[in-house]
Amino acid sequence: MKIAIYPGTFDPITNGHLDILERAAAIFDLVYIAIAVNVDKKPVFTVDERIEMIRQSTAKFKNVRIDHFNGLVVDYAGKVDATVIIRGLRAVSDFEFEFQMALTNRQLNEIIDTVFLMPHVDYTYLSSSTVREIAKFGGDVSRFVPRHVKNELYKKLKG
Ligand code: COA
Repeated sequence: MKIAIYPGTFDPITNGHLDILERAAAIFDLVYIAIAVNVDKKPVFTVDERIEMIRQSTAKFKNVRIDHFNGLVVDYAGKVDATVIIRGLRAVSDFEFEFQMALTNRQLNEIIDTVFLMPHVDYTYLSSSTVREIAKFGGDVSRFVPRHVKNELYKKLKG
């Protein structure tokens, strides 16, 4: 059984993340979408809110589980018997940071590989903070996130 994890902040999950997840779920037997709790970011949504948004967005996937973790991503991967970390590469600008992270993680645990997947071209410019900013000013985020995530964004952010 080939197990992969897809770690990230997911504040909130977007159609771009879901595009990557769909590709990963088609390749691996089991994919854990794992919310990193202790990153330096200050998320707008709580872990429970992010889990619930992911749960509703991923109901159609039979081989996807939702989880969260503290600490190192390689330690979490080991805990769930994953040997692959999935990361999305949207543009060249993502490369340097991802390259550094992948090689650092390999130093920490050499049996874990990072697999990069490219999202659909429509999502290459997308990020959670862009989506939050558009929602905050009342813009339409329908093309970027599932409908229930859009509702949560407006509830949380629209003044
Ligand atoms: N579609 C839309 N947006 C995407 C995307 C996609 N396919 N892929 C990435 N993004 C966006 C995210 O929305 C996020 O946007 P934001 O910065 O506006 O919020 C940004 O790209 C990057 O976020 P994400 O992919 O969630 O990664 P991250 O940088 O927040 O977290 C971790 C990276 C969690 C994997 C990393 O910090 C980690 O492993 N932490 C654990 C500690 C550890 O092990 N450290 C050592 C690692 S070297």
